[in-house]
Amino acid sequence: MADLLQSFIDYTESNQSWEAILAINVNESGLHDEFLFEKAIRLLPLTWQNHVLTTRSLYDRRTALCNRLLQIFGCSVASKTSPKSLTYTCGRYGKPILASSDSVKFSMSNGSTHTVMYLVNSLNNNMEVGVDIASKTDIKSADEINLFEDIFSSAEQACISRCDDRSKIAMFIYYWSLKESYTKFTGTGLNCELKAIDLGAINLCQDFSSIKRQIHGNSVIFQSQWINDDLNEIVTTCQNSLKDDCFERTCIFILTFKDMINYLENLD
Ligand SMILES: CC(C)(COP(=O)(O)OP(=O)(O)OC[C@H]1O[C@@H](n2cnc3c(N)ncnc32)[C@H](O)[C@@H]1OP(=O)(O)O)[C@@H](O)C(=O)NCCC(=O)NCCS
Repeated sequence: MADLLQSFIDYTESNQSWEAILAINVNESGLHDEFLFEKAIRLLPLTWQNHVLTTRSLYDRRTALCNRLLQIFGCSVASKTSPKSLTYTCGRYGKPILASSDSVKFSMSNGSTHTVMYLVNSLNNNMEVGVDIASKTDIKSADEINLFEDIFSSAEQACISRCDDRSKIAMFIYYWSLKESYTKFTGTGLNCELKAIDLGAINLCQDFSSIKRQIHGNSVIFQSQWINDDLNEIVTTCQNSLKDDCFERTCIFILTFKDMINYLENLD
């Protein structure tokens, strides 16, 4: 088994409570190969196969397939359950939930190159988690940011305005991933007022940042880290602040699609 996948499994086995970010690079998945695509999609339940096949573009189809396989992989390892025994439910606005385990919480997000999973095994059943991955390439120019001014509080707007054009895009993406990870945490998705998720003034995340906020009565911790070498995509996680000392950087395991598929095939 490949080293990184094995180190993720070892990590889950050596700790009772743990959290990790798993990522797959969709562009490097090899899914443009029709044979691999066919082989991989058969690892999904039929309703999920249908979800993948009805997404709009070829790229979206590959992303949706990576997303669902990563979900099965992560939930199976975390709950020590075979993929066929996993059962899911979803929240009112579509937040996916693992029904077959109370201790495993997860959240998924698709970016411009990576699909990511935030996976937590916690003894606290009230734990909630959210994740978002956002990319600088989602924004074409700093001017485009003005179109989104309605989603920012005045403190946030002031923070973005103070940046030069280059860091303005990075700051916008950073705020966006913070806000969206919070909507994934609560499970409303975009059915909420983004402006009311007020992060206030923040410093631009350079490599990694961790901030604690009180939002709508929820005490939450956000962690953000850029994941590509060119600092193009930022992953932000959001979880309940249950203790004061969880500012430690969450490990990211960037797995290869091939290793994940091999692992899942060998389970069947
Ligand atoms: C959730 C939402 C914010 C995702 O936005 P996005 O930028 O396209 O998506 P991301 O790539 O970051 O995340 C997508 C993943 O988030 C998860 N997700 C979907 N809805 C979610 C929710 N309400 N809360 C948390 N996570 C959710 C899913 O795993 C989804 O992956 P999938 O589409 O492959 O199943 C947005 O689609 C939304 O607001 N959805 C609400 C949908 C809705 O109103 N549904 C009606 C009732 S079901």
